Amino acid sequence: MSRASGEQEPRLRVDVLTLFPRIFEVPLEESLLGRAVAGGLVEVRLHDIRGFASDRHRQVDDYGFGGGPGMVLKPEPIVSAVEALEEGTKRVVLLSPAGRSLTQALVKELAKESWLVLICGRYEGVDERVVGLLGAEEVSIGDFVLAGGEVAALAMLEAVVRLVPGVVGNEESVISESFEGRLLDHPHYTRPREFRGAAVPDVLLSGDHGRISRWRREAALEKTRRNRPDLLGDGPPGRASE
Ligand code: ADE
Repeated sequence: MSRASGEQEPRLRVDVLTLFPRIFEVPLEESLLGRAVAGGLVEVRLHDIRGFASDRHRQVDDYGFGGGPGMVLKPEPIVSAVEALEEGTKRVVLLSPAGRSLTQALVKELAKESWLVLICGRYEGVDERVVGLLGAEEVSIGDFVLAGGEVAALAMLEAVVRLVPGVVGNEESVISESFEGRLLDHPHYTRPREFRGAAVPDVLLSGDHGRISRWRREAALEKTRRNRPDLLGDGPPGRASE
């Protein structure tokens, strides 16, 4: 996944620590992430945590102190993997359902960094000392539990990379979208003008930009009321129940 020699420095370097590097391979070759990597704007390096296990059996997990089900990822291989990276200022993120929520505001902040390290947890969790020793911030992509941090890291990576200057051609499409304002994005339509009896709202065909923008604002408000009333200050966000 690294760029060919002789090309310019990437805007963003991301080192991903995972037990399953192959999960990242296809997503990093396709679509927006694929273009950003192939174009050299973003460099992603995948590191197999197991390669940093020091014992004969390459053990990366162990029983949790205090009992309870599930295995915990050991701190040594993860800390060694980060310490094996070159010197430089890095922002270290541990993907975890126990982290603070990933928001567009945090995505924007991460997109301004030049070097991110994403640590993907697995099993019941990661030894807590990793957080303190590496100065890592724990980030969750939502109130639900995945089998590991890999899919969460990919979601974060895609959200961040599309904000790296030069990755999305039409900068405007990055601005007028959900979460950029207080509202969700307005509905979009394309051809055909009528599909299975459902017509595109006339106003969008009117050519009257004032009316179109008022309609879009109203439609965005209505969608926000319906899908995310919490964004309008109408009660707490829906939390995932068990
Ligand atoms: N690992 C498991 N679940 C996760 C989540 N919701 N966010 C980030 N990492 C996770």
